[in-house]
Amino acid sequence: MEGNRKVELSEALALGPGWRHACHALLYAPDPRKLFGRIPLRFAVLMQMRFDGRLGFPGGFVDAQDSCLEDGLNRELLEELGEATSAFRVERSDYRSSHIAARRRVVAHFYAKRLTLEQLQAVEARAPQAKDHGLEVLGLVRVPLYILRDGEGGLPAFLENSFIGAAREQLLEALQVLELLDPGTIANLKIPDCR
Ligand code: APR
Ligand code: MG
Repeated sequence: MEGNRKVELSEALALGPGWRHACHALLYAPDPRKLFGRIPLRFAVLMQMRFDGRLGFPGGFVDAQDSCLEDGLNRELLEELGEATSAFRVERSDYRSSHIAARRRVVAHFYAKRLTLEQLQAVEARAPQAKDHGLEVLGLVRVPLYILRDGEGGLPAFLENSFIGAAREQLLEALQVLELLDPGTIANLKIPDCR
């Protein structure tokens, strides 16, 4: 499988005209509810099932008509998630990291945006009416942020799925750095600390 190498944004932006830029966003919101009345959900974190059968984040290629990376990203969010994305804008301040896939000459920029739970629920509700629904996007999923008593159900089982590009690494880094997981879950995941 092709490797994705993390690069600084300045290095990514200096790559030159032979490279295509893509942008993807993790949308999340605090969710105070408890599963089965006892397991805190903590946050609702959105990913999507893609046309290729892999999990990834909404977003896509930035076009020549887009005046900046974020214009391309917000246009892609509208196409893939629908009209509820018009209630907010993912900005440069939401930027987190860039990864290059050198063989394909693609650089993927990653963002994370905190929404209200109402905004996130509106995205979920309107997503089936989005232009790309049923085509490039097969459905939204929430990421389970807990570990069940068997030690595998929840986030460990979710991480066994197939992910596009750097999506798994981007997810794990965001969950840790944005403190979306509780410390006990991080300790039990036995993943390398990627901060
Ligand atoms: N991390 C790194 N790379 C990613 C990630 C990620 N989380 N998500 C996607 N990519 C890569 C994909 O492999 C793809 O090469 O970024 C590129 C663009 O992302 P997509 O969301 O797949 O692109 P999009 O513009 O939404 O549309 C898909 O791409 O392959 C073509 O013909 C296909 O028209 C389709 C389009
Ligand atoms: Mg896409």
